[in-house]
Amino acid sequence: MERRRSRSPRAAPTRNPLTQKPYSSNYTKLLKDRKSLPVYEALLQLENLLKLHQVIILQGETGSGKTTQVPQYLAGLQKKVACTQPRRVAAMSVAKRVAEEMDVKLGEHVGYSVRFDECSSESTLLKYLTDGMLLREAMKHPTLDQYDIIILDEAHERTLATDILFGLMKEVLQKRRDLKVIVMSATLNADKFQHYFEGAPLLSVPGRLFPVEVFFTQVAEEDYVAAAVKTVMQIHAFEDPGDILVFLTGEEEIETACRNIKKEANKYGESVGKLLVIPLYSTLPPSAQQKIFEPAPGPNTKNIPGRKCIIATNIAETSLTIDGVVYVVDSGLSKQKVYNPRMRVESLMVSPISKASAKQRAGRAGRTQPGKCYRLYTEETYRSELQETTHPEILRSNLTSVVLTLRVMGIDNLVKFDFMDPPAPETMMRALEILNFLGALDDEGDLTELGSLISEFPLDPELSKILITSERFKCSDDILTLCAMLSVQNPFLRPKESGEVADKAKAQFAHQDGDHLTLISVFSAYIREGQRQDWCSHNFINPRSMRAAAEIRDQLLVKFNKLGLQVLSEERGRSENIRKCICSGFFTQVACKEKSSIYATLKEKQCVAIHPSTTLAFRPEWVLYHEYILTSKNYIRTVSIINPIWLLELAPHYFELEGFPDSQGKRQLESLKKSRAKNKK
Ligand code: CDP
Ligand code: MG
Repeated sequence: MERRRSRSPRAAPTRNPLTQKPYSSNYTKLLKDRKSLPVYEALLQLENLLKLHQVIILQGETGSGKTTQVPQYLAGLQKKVACTQPRRVAAMSVAKRVAEEMDVKLGEHVGYSVRFDECSSESTLLKYLTDGMLLREAMKHPTLDQYDIIILDEAHERTLATDILFGLMKEVLQKRRDLKVIVMSATLNADKFQHYFEGAPLLSVPGRLFPVEVFFTQVAEEDYVAAAVKTVMQIHAFEDPGDILVFLTGEEEIETACRNIKKEANKYGESVGKLLVIPLYSTLPPSAQQKIFEPAPGPNTKNIPGRKCIIATNIAETSLTIDGVVYVVDSGLSKQKVYNPRMRVESLMVSPISKASAKQRAGRAGRTQPGKCYRLYTEETYRSELQETTHPEILRSNLTSVVLTLRVMGIDNLVKFDFMDPPAPETMMRALEILNFLGALDDEGDLTELGSLISEFPLDPELSKILITSERFKCSDDILTLCAMLSVQNPFLRPKESGEVADKAKAQFAHQDGDHLTLISVFSAYIREGQRQDWCSHNFINPRSMRAAAEIRDQLLVKFNKLGLQVLSEERGRSENIRKCICSGFFTQVACKEKSSIYATLKEKQCVAIHPSTTLAFRPEWVLYHEYILTSKNYIRTVSIINPIWLLELAPHYFELEGFPDSQGKRQLESLKKSRAKNKK
């Protein structure tokens, strides 16, 4: 009986059983807050349910304490717990918070793991990780024996990796009767999860939302960023105290909005309260992300209370809860992945959110008191243009990486894999085909040695492939740099007001053979100049991108060495070797000039133009591109010159040319082939 009580969430020992140290005062303070969270009451019930069931669905309003309380409670029972998050920002910030709540050092009993950043140790009981990282762990340990309990959080988001984990869990649960799985989601379609995990009980935590008054605009807004700025200023000038949360779509417009709001607020002077404007998006460093939890500024000289205003991407929709928000400004948009398997193009596009998302966003205003939500779109748009819910990501993604992961885990029959929503067969076919051309799968669809090597790197298969091939082309040093640079945000800044100066700065790094080599030059210069921030700002380079690239490069190098690959660099023929090496992975992304500056992609015959950001001085006959951008005009970005002969040498199977549409490029390749055949004779 006694033991039972000490396990209950209400029991409060004075010493931390994990560290044997007395609890700090901060612990006691946080504990009080924690006890008021709706989830707190349900913890014991959850523990009891877990004794009877392998899978439990837990649903509760955002902010009810699911992510912070449930995992730490279970870790307190001496269970090894993994809790997934769709976003790295959420994984890192929640881990930090929970370490504080448990009064332990981050990285010890509580840790996190996100791509290129692992913060955990032998003693880690609770690990927050991105869903993608858990999937990677499952490649190494297919039954995930390192954990007793796996929590799939934010399940309603239906990210690609979470969806794969669902199917994987079903298989692992069969093999490991001791494993427990908790699926946690906001109050959305929990019945779908229950249905999928047949017989899993649903535990619902009662929400505590205050009413939120919703306003639509009367007429459609031309410029939603400007409209957001205006709305924030109106709230700030005329509404009662309370913080503001604005939803926009990406870094650039968030920074613009922040600048403009600060500018406007300055105009008002002391007639309005102090306004603390904070951006929030995924590429911000953790220290900057932490700012959102800072308290709002105090009253000004005229005793008008201050407020904070957070301008965020949809990170703030469900995965991070910011207390004190009373006003929400919703652009109705977010960046979403779209994939067209026929064109093999995956891109991020600013698209309308779903009604469910709009409701979640509005709900952010009613956490602590009644709130208001200003939608920057009309009621008509809401009714006729917004879908009920967002399509699961698996239906709009390139699956190459996922299919390889599944193969590595030994899941061979993809048709039998229990997808909650099965992806289009065409998308699966494309993935298998590409993996075969890359040499990761053989003609029977079985994993090759190269395939398992490719899967070792936390990169897209094409990038891993070029990294591995770099040994053969004696350019590993440069390809390591390139892979790192292609994994971070575009390093070239181009503020509107100083576009020309920025272009000049960029021209210093321009390499005549293309943008890939330009990226490598920038990185070399950054290292040569001692990785200095002032050098970056002087040259319109994003220091964050560079720091991230340096870190990623180090990690790739460690992995590279561990796999027994050799770092080789040869000055002779350097540019050609690098570009050949890139061709060995990205041979599907090539285009040939049709006329003047119009190119056609080879396999799909799409008309494209080279993006104006290129450092190429002229328009060469053949190019390889890294990215295809769908806008009003179709662009290819990050482009380098190639020699079509390399394509025939490096990917002969792909360039058998049978299914290719007729084009300038195809005809050239055909005649090249003929003359090669003749020469051989
Ligand atoms: O997961 P769910 O949305 O149900 O809630 P949660 O993320 O566990 O948040 C519970 C509470 O912890 C909220 O009041 C948050 O504001 C707070 N929290 C925090 O103060 N700092 C964090 N880094 C994370 C959560
Ligand atoms: Mg949560």
